[in-house]
Amino acid sequence: MKRGEFLRSLGLSTSTLMAFYCLGTTMTACGSSDDDPDPDPTPGGGNAGTGIIGTISGSAVNFTVDLTKVTAVKAAGGFQVIGDTIVAHTNSGSYIALSKTCTHQGTTIGFRAAQNDFLCPNHGSQFSTTGSVEEGPATTALKVYKTTLSADGNTLTVTA
Ligand code: FES
Repeated sequence: MKRGEFLRSLGLSTSTLMAFYCLGTTMTACGSSDDDPDPDPTPGGGNAGTGIIGTISGSAVNFTVDLTKVTAVKAAGGFQVIGDTIVAHTNSGSYIALSKTCTHQGTTIGFRAAQNDFLCPNHGSQFSTTGSVEEGPATTALKVYKTTLSADGNTLTVTA
């Protein structure tokens, strides 16, 4: 007797047998995605544990950076790539947020505190702190985001 014939002889359909299987000890094999822990427990996006809360990608970038947690940005001369942006703290004390994506071929740029500019490691394009091209091959400026520092100096808000 073949397997299908045996199951039919029991009067059970395949779907009925699957239901029993899912109710058994191997329930995880049939678990739904509702059983998974919430990967983003912070409503509105972001992750409070990292000190970054809000929308970090797309056309509606709007997030806050807790500088007590994101120490790479807190330190003068430091920077961090956050979503679609690169947030830098210049040696002169201002905070800058630009698109992280080189306008030449899309490589992620880095901040150079000593030169007070941004360098693409791929083909060497350089951008000023206002996003303009200082040296090619890129020919298009980087998008600039608005930055606002809280009165206590601990929270930086970045908006499109
Ligand atoms: S990708 Fe940045 S210079 Fe080419």
